Amino acid sequence: MTTIPAPPLRVLHAAAEIFPLVKTGGLADVVGALPQALAAAGADIRLLLPGLPAILDAVSRPRKIFEGGSLFGAARITLRLGRFKDGIKGCDVRAYVLDAPWLYARSGGPYQGPDGRPWDDNLQRFALLGWAAAHLAAGELDPAWRPDILHAHDWHAALGCSYLRAHPGAHARSIFTIHNLAYQGLFAQDDFAALGLPQRFMRPDGLEFHGQLSFMKGGLAHADRLTTVSPTYAREITTPEFGCGVEGVLSARAADLSGILNGVDYSHWDPSTDPALPAHYDPQDLTGKAACKAALQREFGLTTDTASPVIAVVSRLSEQKGLDLALAALPELLAEGAQFAILGSGDAALERAFAEAAAAHPGRVGVRIGYDETLAHRVIAGADLILVPSRFEPCGLTQLYGMRYGTLPLVRRVGGLADTVDRSTGFLFDAAEPAALAEAARHAILTLRDPLRRRAMQQQAMSRDHGWPAAAQQYLSLYRALMGRQP
Ligand code: ADP
Ligand code: GLC
Repeated sequence: MTTIPAPPLRVLHAAAEIFPLVKTGGLADVVGALPQALAAAGADIRLLLPGLPAILDAVSRPRKIFEGGSLFGAARITLRLGRFKDGIKGCDVRAYVLDAPWLYARSGGPYQGPDGRPWDDNLQRFALLGWAAAHLAAGELDPAWRPDILHAHDWHAALGCSYLRAHPGAHARSIFTIHNLAYQGLFAQDDFAALGLPQRFMRPDGLEFHGQLSFMKGGLAHADRLTTVSPTYAREITTPEFGCGVEGVLSARAADLSGILNGVDYSHWDPSTDPALPAHYDPQDLTGKAACKAALQREFGLTTDTASPVIAVVSRLSEQKGLDLALAALPELLAEGAQFAILGSGDAALERAFAEAAAAHPGRVGVRIGYDETLAHRVIAGADLILVPSRFEPCGLTQLYGMRYGTLPLVRRVGGLADTVDRSTGFLFDAAEPAALAEAARHAILTLRDPLRRRAMQQQAMSRDHGWPAAAQQYLSLYRALMGRQP
């Protein structure tokens, strides 16, 4: 008997950002690489993205798939399908883009205006994303491509799972991936009427969250499976300490919740080819790294002293990242002979405090406030240690980038940091306290002074494989299980 191979699984990924077009954090890196890795592993993958100007501009020869309106305040909505133009390394899979100028054609960030405040119509902007995701998944918008699975990322796309659940005829299953539970997409309860969902969904076992409307809860309550981006964070979020108030919902769904570690796009993060670097290197020959360090010291106004370990941070400056701990520990780090280089933006008080630290310690502390993709590569290549002292960290990518660049991670043992860094590749501390950070830093600095030990750790770290293919295989297994297919 001959067996007919099953057709490739069709999966629609819905998300709000994609590297390199629109990026506020690691979510964009994931959306720019995971679909590609899944396609390479044999799945039939498409993306759904909001038509933010940078995204619309990047799609070559988009084909009109659907035209409609008025929806969520937008008179005109056109769903277009295309591939990204050459040179956009984000990905090669096909993308549906929601061209809805009323909601998306504006300058500013994907979630906030230029004044840093959330867009007033975020409810409409991301309800449309979810609505379109579900209608595509149900075969309503593009009958030529009916996905088996809708894979929605973070609160921005979470309502896709709710719309799908509300439709009795939809055969597609859904997966919701939590990239960060701290951002839930909360709106006034009264706005629920604008969504066009069944009233019964506005209950605590649905979208209701302490008198508010939570988009995130749409994913948590209505997706068939839940994932997050590390096994440790998957456990942590079922506890009050990390559960952001939805630990009860997550505990109740523990059997459907799993953690799959993010990967690294090594075509973009490779010190032997990285075009952003002044010199190249690999695990066999790290000479180029010394040149990267000297260049970084110059670029950040640090004394060009090869013996001083450079501790670097590349991060959003937010409560999550624990950088107040780094500030408090700074005097001790400097007393140990370290230099400090930080590239980040976010919280105004932290931005000011780091700028003041740089002014107080010329030649020892260098600060760049802002967001700069190529500078991030140079900082990660040139530093000796990459510091990630997060209070919580769903996965974290910068420690993985650091490892590939022979820049040893100094991290808090939490979430994905605990799952990716060990004593042979980096340095860990437990308490979210400056003294614990300082103690681990002291140990790290001491270790770095031993050239053999340092070299051994760098080689271990650089040769760890955190590429996307392994993560893609885990997602594929999950998809197959969800569809009742053989693993
Ligand atoms: P999160 O998504 O919580 O911000 P991750 O570690 O998963 O944390 O991803 C952060 C991503 O954003 C990485 O690609 C990192 O290099 C990048 N990044 C963070 N801050 C900056 C910055 N100021 N300039 C350039 N890149 C940054
Ligand atoms: C979130 C998390 C981060 C994770 C990223 C991509 O922004 O804060 O830990 O790496 O999403 O999944």
